[in-house]
Amino acid sequence: MPNPIQDCMMAHSSVRAFEPTPVPKEVIERCVAAAQMASTSSWIQAYSLLQIHDATKREALAELCGGQAQVHAAGAFFVVLADSRRHLLLAESAGCDHVQNLEGFLLAVVDASLFAQSLALAFESEGLGICFIGGLRYQLDEVDRLLDLPQGAWPLFGLSVGTPEEKPDGRPRLPLSAVLHHDRYPTDGEVAAATDAFDEVASAHYAERGLAGRTWSGGMARKFMAPVREELAAYYISKGARLS
Ligand SMILES: Cc1cc2nc3c(=O)[nH]c(=O)nc-3n(C[C@H](O)[C@H](O)[C@H](O)COP(=O)(O)O)c2cc1C
Repeated sequence: MPNPIQDCMMAHSSVRAFEPTPVPKEVIERCVAAAQMASTSSWIQAYSLLQIHDATKREALAELCGGQAQVHAAGAFFVVLADSRRHLLLAESAGCDHVQNLEGFLLAVVDASLFAQSLALAFESEGLGICFIGGLRYQLDEVDRLLDLPQGAWPLFGLSVGTPEEKPDGRPRLPLSAVLHHDRYPTDGEVAAATDAFDEVASAHYAERGLAGRTWSGGMARKFMAPVREELAAYYISKGARLS
């Protein structure tokens, strides 16, 4: 059965080159309203979206994100926030304690991520391209200063959106057998068989792009060899989160 929503999901690829056309306000508002209908833990809606219009701030953010041009070149750029601030303010005005712990942080991160992926899909359904920007977490202290964020508003990642100037090939995904399990988690041998199968697909993908010899499994092993962004916990704690 043709299903336009799944067709749109299957057509996804991250876009990193955009035309300079702004994204109309009504398109943004329509997509945000649709994304707000994502499920939310206990209806807490613990997220906010900060659109950065100011060109100087966009350029500074592009540098802070590791020199990623799409942060200032895209038609629109947003910072996705896990947001406990409104709950903090509500507690203050109700005269209640507001207690944070890891559960509170995870609630907000999960809520914000579900909202963000729905938002990305809503934009893509309008024919726009998107790229999430985890590079926002390279220098969160600086990002925080630039955006003047209050306690309880926790930046997670950015989102560039705009008219695509390119249509990148989709990156293949793991086989279903690596992701969809029935009644029990697979054995280590089954996990290895599925990742080996994917390595063949990913290696062919790399080779077609002039990167013969590169493997997905090798890349993943290297990615987690050493800790990165170790200052994140201190930053989020300084902004009112508790991570235990
Ligand atoms: C939370 C998150 C952060 C990301 N951060 C970046 C980023 O900083 N820069 C970038 O170019 N792509 C970024 N990406 C895009 C991924 O690299 C991309 O989704 C992945 O390689 C799969 O490719 P595809 O989206 O084209 O299928 C990010 C994706 C996610 C979900």
